Amino acid sequence: MDSLSPHLHETRTAHPALHADQEFASGPLDAIPVTLRVNGSDHSLPLDPRATLLDALRERLGLTGTKKGCDRGECGACTVHINGHRALSCMTLAVMAEGKEVTTIEGLAPEGELHAMQVAFIEHDALQCGYCTPGQIMSAVALIREGHAGSKDEIREFMSGNICRCSAYPQIVQAVHVVANAGGDN
Ligand code: FES
Ligand code: FES
Repeated sequence: MDSLSPHLHETRTAHPALHADQEFASGPLDAIPVTLRVNGSDHSLPLDPRATLLDALRERLGLTGTKKGCDRGECGACTVHINGHRALSCMTLAVMAEGKEVTTIEGLAPEGELHAMQVAFIEHDALQCGYCTPGQIMSAVALIREGHAGSKDEIREFMSGNICRCSAYPQIVQAVHVVANAGGDN
């Protein structure tokens, strides 16, 4: 034991702030009221302030179209739109989305008619297992709005945050390219 250790032990037992890890392990924080506007509807619910938007969508609102892949910002499976822009819902606290317009894959076809990007993914066979597909489609729709679908190379670059473990990349790029060239993003 080095000479600092006894002091460190004393400090840890004396200072309540150093027991934060024990507090995190003790359970959820008190829920706070949050209103989320998702796909055009308001949902008021009590939420742990640490809850991610992804968990709120899937576990509390039953919108399981948004997928949880890595849960750490690396795969893009959880991509949604917040105020029309792409966002990783696993890296967004639900409370941060309050007062904003959240759109999930379910909201792309509100009248039951598939979005042009969904049709293109089907027609170009741009999926295998389908797990990454909602995130790919949400990214692709926003990508065209952002003006980053001018070429297949540009599509590849700006879709690079969406990982497909089945490697359907050529078909995904083709589907996005076709929709972009048709001038459609809605
Ligand atoms: Fe959000 Fe992978 S689940 S980036
Ligand atoms: Fe399987 Fe992309 S279709 S992960």
